[in-house]
Amino acid sequence: MRILNFGSLNIDFVYAVDHIVQPGETISSSALTIFCGGKGLNQSIALARAGATVFHAGMVGPDGDILLDACAENNVDTSFVKRVPERSGNAIIQVGADGQNSIVLFGGANRQNTPEFVDEVLEQFGDDDLVLLQNEINHIDRIIDQAASRGMRIALNPAPFDSNLNGCELSKVSLFIMNEVEGEQISGESTPETILGSMRERYPEAEVVLTLGGDGASYQGRGEIVTQPIFPVKVVDTTAAGDTFTGYFLAASMENLPPAQCMRLAALASSITVSRQGATPSIPRRDEVEARQ
Ligand code: RIB
Repeated sequence: MRILNFGSLNIDFVYAVDHIVQPGETISSSALTIFCGGKGLNQSIALARAGATVFHAGMVGPDGDILLDACAENNVDTSFVKRVPERSGNAIIQVGADGQNSIVLFGGANRQNTPEFVDEVLEQFGDDDLVLLQNEINHIDRIIDQAASRGMRIALNPAPFDSNLNGCELSKVSLFIMNEVEGEQISGESTPETILGSMRERYPEAEVVLTLGGDGASYQGRGEIVTQPIFPVKVVDTTAAGDTFTGYFLAASMENLPPAQCMRLAALASSITVSRQGATPSIPRRDEVEARQ
């Protein structure tokens, strides 16, 4: 089974601040660092560093060499990444002294996907393959429909959640990986138990992974529920923690490891990510994660 990640690639401008700026407030930052990021690219790199073979599909602009280089350095296949005239997607990220972040996205090239490009890419994949999606690119609805019609499995990280997702046929998704906020937005419920209950009712065939920040994560599917606590570390920067969890969970699940092992590996990997700065540079390699087991 091959993994196609149809997703965003962003250049992240990361500002180190004492606290996240408040409405009407102006603050100075103590450092500006530029990293490769984007939920799509972060998840492709997490998958690759976890040992999976991953094809990334998406769009970059004339400034996208840095993003393509990051893919190449991590053995992420970019045969389906197209260059367009629009500048690459970017993110303005504030990271506070407590490691928490706040992100403003500019879609740029990530929103230049066309129906023709979607079909052209998906034609290369079939019922033995899986497509992974986040919500930072356009035409998610078409990708879901086309992938399902080709018999592909669909994994969705509905992040960031917005009204575009309401137009998608989510019953075609076989794995949801989301945090509590997205879980609430998708289900209308507000506790982990009721979110999982609502997902089970609405999408009985789907597996669901719900990440809960400091409270760990829960898995529901294959007739079982698994709860996974966090591995406590000193938090430096939470950026890409969820993406690391997604990439590691999926890579382990594609190896047919039992859900409890997939969850443990994903939690270990994201505990390493939050202890480091930046998006893609903070994602650990499999041997490093396994050394912490
Ligand atoms: O999930 C973290 C990512 O969200 C960042 O890398 C940023 O680009 C935004 O897409």
